[in-house]
Order: sequence, then C-alpha cells, then structure tokens
Amino acid sequence: MEANIIHLATVTSTQDVAREMTPRRVGTVIIADAQEKGRGRRGHVWLSPRGGLYMSVIMQSDPLLSLRAGIAVARALQKLGIDARLKWPNDVLAKGKKIAGILIEASAEIAIVGIGLNVDSVPLPEATCVERETERSVTRDELLHAILREIRIACGDDIIRAYRELCCTIGRTVRVSSAAGKDVTGIASGIDRDGHLLVVDGRNKHTIVGGDCEHLDAGV
Ligand code: BTN
Repeated sequence: MEANIIHLATVTSTQDVAREMTPRRVGTVIIADAQEKGRGRRGHVWLSPRGGLYMSVIMQSDPLLSLRAGIAVARALQKLGIDARLKWPNDVLAKGKKIAGILIEASAEIAIVGIGLNVDSVPLPEATCVERETERSVTRDELLHAILREIRIACGDDIIRAYRELCCTIGRTVRVSSAAGKDVTGIASGIDRDGHLLVVDGRNKHTIVGGDCEHLDAGV
C-alpha cells in the first residue's frame, strides 16, 4: 500500500474528509492537526485538541481490518518501548489506560480506518499519552510512519494469532454491551477465527460480534 499523505490543519473529522474525497484512492491518508467533531466508536465523541495524532486511511474492506489496525498501532507503540495491549475489539491501552482508539467506517469495497492517538496530552483523566509513557518527546510524523509501516506488515500476518498475543481481554471478567443492545457479563475465554469475543457466563458461551467491552477485574 503506497501512502499518499494529505496533511490538513483543523477539520471536522478526518473520517469526513476521507469520505468526501473523489476518487477515494486506496492508500490515501488524511491527517489533521485538530478535529472539531472527532468521532469515536458507537456514537462517542473523540476529543481532538492540537498535539494528538488524528488520521484516516482509505483501505480495501476486509472483515479483519479492525483487528489489523489495532495490531499495527499496538506494535508501533511497542517499538517505542510502550507496553501497548488491545482491549477487545480495538482499544489500545498502555498500563490499562486508553492511549489510542480506532474507528472503521466501511462500505462493501472501501473502508476508512480512523486512528486517534494521544501524543503529548491526555484529554480525559482515565487516559494516557505517548509522551507520558515514553518520558520523551515523540513527533507525530514518527508515529504516523511507524503506524503505516505496521499496517503494511500486518497485511501478510496471521492476524488472529497476532491479535490473540496482544489482546489483554482474554482471561478477564468482562461486561460487554453488544451491538444488539444486550449486556453480557462473564469471563472472556478467547477470540474466534473471525475476531469475535467468546464470553463464558456459567454454562452459557456467548459469541460477541461487536460492542463495547469493559474489564471488571484488575487483571494480573
Ligand atoms: C474510539 O476509540 O472510540 C475510536 C476513536 C477514533 C478516533 C479517530 S481520530 C481520527 C478519525 N477521525 C475521527 O473523527 N475519528 C477517528
């Protein structure tokens, strides 16, 4: 995937800019200094002050893209020395605190992969950022290129195996608000070959296709 990088100042959302582009070329990357209406998953707002990394990558649709993007961001951060792990499906955590989020908006052929990464500041008290974790200054350019490189590498990988290795949800007590509006509480027992989360609650085993996941225990 050859990247064509378009750097903008303030936008509503890099997702909107990517969506409005014609033609929408695979490999185009929109990056903005700030967003006025940054979007998160499931209708959440993504606070986007200057200093963070806000990027949208136009890619070919692929059912495992969300996991692949998570793997790429986690690996890019690990190369900086951050112990980055994935909370299902694709929240990137460092020491249990959210450092990056991923939003995929897809049609049958094209997917817009939005990545928001806290770099030099923390928009919410329960979050963290790259500079806090590395204790040094890291440029957005360095992060952008590291993530794009890892997205390319994760293409040919065994995505599910790589994802399971990075996922800190497996083995935890979780509450998942599923996309179908149902809450499930239990032990996250694994990730199936489609990237769905398996949750055991007593004798019932649930396969969760999409939703918000909360870790209820402190983990090890
Ligand atoms: C989440 O964890 O809820 C996903 C957050 C995704 C935020 C990124 S920032 C770049 C792109 N533009 C947006 O409006 N959202 C994504």
